[in-house]
Amino acid sequence: MKKRYMMPAVHALLLTGCAGSAVEADGSAILSEEIKYVALTFDDGPRSSTTAQLLDGLKEQGAAATFFLVGEEIAGNEELVARMAAEGHQVGNHTWSHMRLEEAAADVVEQEISRTEEAIRSILGGSDYWLRLPYGLLPQHTEHLVQVPLIKWSVDPRDWESRNKDAIVSSVLEQVKNGSIILLHDIYPSSVEAALEIIDRLHAEDYRFVTVEELLRLSGIIPENGVMYRCGG
Ligand code: NI
Repeated sequence: MKKRYMMPAVHALLLTGCAGSAVEADGSAILSEEIKYVALTFDDGPRSSTTAQLLDGLKEQGAAATFFLVGEEIAGNEELVARMAAEGHQVGNHTWSHMRLEEAAADVVEQEISRTEEAIRSILGGSDYWLRLPYGLLPQHTEHLVQVPLIKWSVDPRDWESRNKDAIVSSVLEQVKNGSIILLHDIYPSSVEAALEIIDRLHAEDYRFVTVEELLRLSGIIPENGVMYRCGG
């Protein structure tokens, strides 16, 4: 049923830029200067106290986002996960326990990925759930275990550190450009408030908010399993 069991992971982990590389058949760029696209990504949830508010705001502002879920946070928050998908957001995997994987044994890495995948699949059904690694790291000998695209980020306002809405907004607005993948965490009220303000501010600059999957598609990239994408240069 799922191609991850049939396709060998033949690619090494690579950082691959996305934005601006795509050209339509007629030669015009898909990512034009007039319309700019960014992907907001939210890690470490879902969390009932903050994620629902974020989903309300995204809906109100007509913005799509991508959520990389920690498996052990899913129990009790199944409705939030279902809502993410129903409202057009992309749902991805951020491992089961958010441990540092770079020193982990292969079977631990496999479990950390597959348990979360199964938890998401039990709510949303079968699909490819793209992976974001905690701390962005994976042991070299386990690269073959990753049989979905890996998504990194290009704009990191370190929202978990400042927990300050204004600082997060400023940091993102300073760094953002067409094709950026922005890293935030929907477990902090300050990050949720910042995200909604960022959407407001960037809508005024003709940015559109799309899922990571859509951002890659708009960039003319066909996602490959085991390849890491960060976009935004
Ligand atoms: Ni994380």
